[in-house]
Amino acid sequence: MRASIIGSGNVATHLAKALHQAQVEIHGIWSHQFENAVLLAKQVGAKAVRQISEIIQDESDIVLISVKDDAIAEVAAQLRNYRGIVAHTSGAIALNALSGNANYGVFYPLQTFSKHKNLDFSQVPLCLEANTNQNLQQLKMLAALLSNSVFEVDTEQRKILHLAAVFACNFPNYLYGVAQQLLAQHQLDFDIIRPLIAETAQKVQTALPIEMQTGPAIRNDQQTLKKHEDLLKGHADWLTIYKLLSEQIKKNR
Ligand SMILES: NC(=O)c1ccc[n+]([C@@H]2O[C@H](COP(=O)([O-])OP(=O)(O)OC[C@H]3O[C@@H](n4cnc5c(N)ncnc54)[C@H](OP(=O)(O)O)[C@@H]3O)[C@@H](O)[C@H]2O)c1
Repeated sequence: MRASIIGSGNVATHLAKALHQAQVEIHGIWSHQFENAVLLAKQVGAKAVRQISEIIQDESDIVLISVKDDAIAEVAAQLRNYRGIVAHTSGAIALNALSGNANYGVFYPLQTFSKHKNLDFSQVPLCLEANTNQNLQQLKMLAALLSNSVFEVDTEQRKILHLAAVFACNFPNYLYGVAQQLLAQHQLDFDIIRPLIAETAQKVQTALPIEMQTGPAIRNDQQTLKKHEDLLKGHADWLTIYKLLSEQIKKNR
């Protein structure tokens, strides 16, 4: 199989490297800013193109669109005459956002990707959807070259997966950031708390999170809760979050 890529951000970079490693030939790479396409293309032996129309004429079987969600429809519209499969990588965008194309699908990797943080792509769950069974089979073939974890997921299920991912990944990471700032304000290094973060994530690999909840809210330790709220007096937003999350945790007692 031969692929082309639209985008050069976090996901496009990981996908391009995984495809390259799996010896899938990458033809063209287009990015909003040409120099970003050049940087990525160099790493995976591909050609950076200045115009999306150059992708239409190349000999790839699939073009993966990995740009910001709001730009997917606009990019797909420029690929109307492409004969291969046009697939986006978003958790939040419906399959039919690509319905102006002849062959289309979704190639959603359910993981958190940062461009400069390596990960083992063979462990990344790939959630697939396509407009025809034949296109789905093509996507499955490609996915199997990259990952040991491939799922067929429709648009409605994918929306929920994405929402769950925001709760399970994006929000905890924001809260790690609050912890980071609290520690820094008191000359404490973030390293001290890293084992706690690792163990919290590790525990739910073999148990369910509601069963693993610890802390003052689940114990309903009123005095400790009050002390924490006092410490947050100068941080109105964090205090609101603290109170809301503590109330929700108490409901699971
Ligand atoms: N990051 C994740 O963990 C993750 C996980 C699963 C799925 N996704 C999905 O993967 C897609 C890409 O996410 P990402 O995190 O890789 O994003 P990102 O790192 O922020 O990269 C965004 C990409 O969009 C391009 N872009 C920005 N504005 C554009 C425009 N107006 N027209 C065309 N292209 C434009 C950028 O091009 P330039 O850099 O050249 O400006 C860049 O290549 C999204 O659909 C996202 O929902 C992300």
